[in-house]
Parts: sequence; C-alpha cells; structure tokens
Amino acid sequence: MHDDIERILLSKEEIKTKVKELADRITEDYEDSDSLVVVCILKGASVFFADLIRKINRQVQLDFMSISSYGDSRSSSGVVQIRKDLDINIYGKDVLIVEDIMDSGQTLAYLCEMLAARDPSSLKICALLDKPERRIADIQPDYCGFQIPDEFVVGYGLDFAEKYRNLEYIGVLKPELYSD
Ligand code: IMP
Ligand code: MG
Repeated sequence: MHDDIERILLSKEEIKTKVKELADRITEDYEDSDSLVVVCILKGASVFFADLIRKINRQVQLDFMSISSYGDSRSSSGVVQIRKDLDINIYGKDVLIVEDIMDSGQTLAYLCEMLAARDPSSLKICALLDKPERRIADIQPDYCGFQIPDEFVVGYGLDFAEKYRNLEYIGVLKPELYSD
C-alpha cells in the first residue's frame, strides 16, 4: 500500500494538530448554539469526522449523508445523487457539513443548495483539504484545514478506486497508478 505513494504531503502529526485547531475554532464559534448538527459526507470524510467531533467541546448531534457524484475516478461532475439522506430534521438547526476535500466545489454547491432549502438556522462547511486552483462553483469552505496543490491525494479517508482510505497520512499517489 505505502509503495503506491509518491510522497507524503501531510503527516499524521500535522493532520492531528490541524484537526485540533479546527475543532477549537468550531467550539468557540458555536458557543451560543444549542442545536449543532455535524454532518459527515461519506465515505471520504469519515476519518476526519471521527477525529474532529471528539475535539469539539460542545453538545452536538451527528448525522451522515452518502452522495455519489458522477464523473471519472479522479474528479466529480457536479451531478449528485443522494444515496443516504440525513435522519435528523435540520429545520432551525445549526448545520456544519464535514467534507474531505473541495475540488471543483460542485458536489458541495449542490448539497448546500439542497440543505439550505430545508431552512436550517445556519449552514457552514468544514473541509480538511481545499484545491482552490480547481474551483468551478462559487463556493468556499468556512473552515479549511489545508490548501493543497492540484495533485491527486489519498489517505486519511480519501480514496482512489476505494483504496488507501486507511492510510494515517495524506500522500500523493504515484501518477502511473491512475488509469486515465
Ligand atoms: P468536487 O465536487 O469536484 O469538489 O469533488 C469533491 C470530491 O471529489 C471529494 O469529496 C472527493 O471524493 C473527490 N476528490 C477530489 N479530489 C480528490 C483527491 O485528490 N483525492 C481523492 N478524492 C478527491
Ligand atoms: Mg469523496
């Protein structure tokens, strides 16, 4: 598994420090909220979500959404299908979406529009990674762990063809492994 990685972009320690930083900001920003719903976008955000929520020092409700965006194996098209919707009714609640990476932004743009229509009290995005160079949709994360260059990364939840999600670090995949 590790042999397929060209180089480590973010070490386990760097990620851990950043997750704590993000969680501290969230804890502070939601001081006055008594209805925070933290939403994990499956499967990519699962590892980040699990670490992040345990560092948020507030009462939270957790929920999960599974979406599939059509596209090739390395990018999304913005056409999104809901595979699993939220269980919680978010009307009047403070919703924080947790995502692994924002690339073109099309997946989150679609999702935010859909969730905003349910009238939450607030709707924000926390993305561990951001590739701003690739943005197509007019959307930015409210909380961002790291801005990264336009390279395909895996690990800490992120996959290529469902593999590498269980790496403890985030690494750049060897380009010869893409089946373009
Ligand atoms: P967007 O709609 O283009 O922003 O696509 C976001 C989704 O594309 C993420 O949730 C990931 O599933 C996937 N993605 C984008 N870039 C990468 C990457 O470098 N590694 C793994 N998945 C990625
Ligand atoms: Mg994904």
